[in-house]
Amino acid sequence: MTENFDKNKGEAMAFFAHEIKNPLAVIKANVQLIELDDDGRNKKSFQAIYYEIENINLLINEAMKKAENTIIEKTSFSIIDVVRKVFDKYSRIYEREFVIDNECKYAVISGKENLIESVFENIVKNAVEATEANDEIKAEIHKRYNKIAVTISDTGKGISDGDIERAGELFYSTKKGGSGVGLFMCKRIIDQNGGRIKIGKNKPKGTKVTVELNIK
Ligand SMILES: Nc1ncnc2c1ncn2[C@@H]1O[C@H](COP(=O)(O)OP(=O)(O)OP(=O)(O)O)[C@@H](O)[C@H]1O
Ligand SMILES: [Mg+2]
Repeated sequence: MTENFDKNKGEAMAFFAHEIKNPLAVIKANVQLIELDDDGRNKKSFQAIYYEIENINLLINEAMKKAENTIIEKTSFSIIDVVRKVFDKYSRIYEREFVIDNECKYAVISGKENLIESVFENIVKNAVEATEANDEIKAEIHKRYNKIAVTISDTGKGISDGDIERAGELFYSTKKGGSGVGLFMCKRIIDQNGGRIKIGKNKPKGTKVTVELNIK
């Protein structure tokens, strides 16, 4: 019920946003034509019109992005494949040792795959940012009864007790230029999927983040 409602709402929002863009483009083109006949006396007014048209366009683009997120469908997929995909992507860019140590070969979960992928992408990105070349970033996948636990550990600079407490709070970041949004989003997505995220210290060094999800 909620799922369908969200989907319809998302589609309506996307349609609405799209349908405003077209007439807006026509308005802009016509204003540009009128400006050709102007001797420059109305320059400021034309600028104000273009400025506001651009503002409306930005708002529409944002609304469309939100709508897109709302209508991503729930599917069943292999969590191990998602982790592998993220590791493949990052191992092509960064010189780290990416290791997958999966106890179970196959675990299917149900959810919005793109969102779950972005969760692991954020966690791996944090691990990359906390490590240096030749450090190890490892995924361990364990199945217990109807739950799957994916732990991403790194051998990086580690995390303090205080940061363990606060990581995942919106805008909490200890990085220069960090926005502190990554783990907040991860927690929200996993929460909505009926799972949870735990952050802790890795032994002998580094950080580990465990994502626990229900198996389908
Ligand atoms: N693997 C890790 N090792 C050490 N510290 C970590 C690790 N992962 C998260 N943290 C800590 O948690 C904080 C919050 O992480 P989060 O991903 O939410 O924000 P961020 O990485 O700082 O910014 P961004 O919004 O760009 O992701 C980080 O600033 C860092 O202090
Ligand atoms: Mg981050």
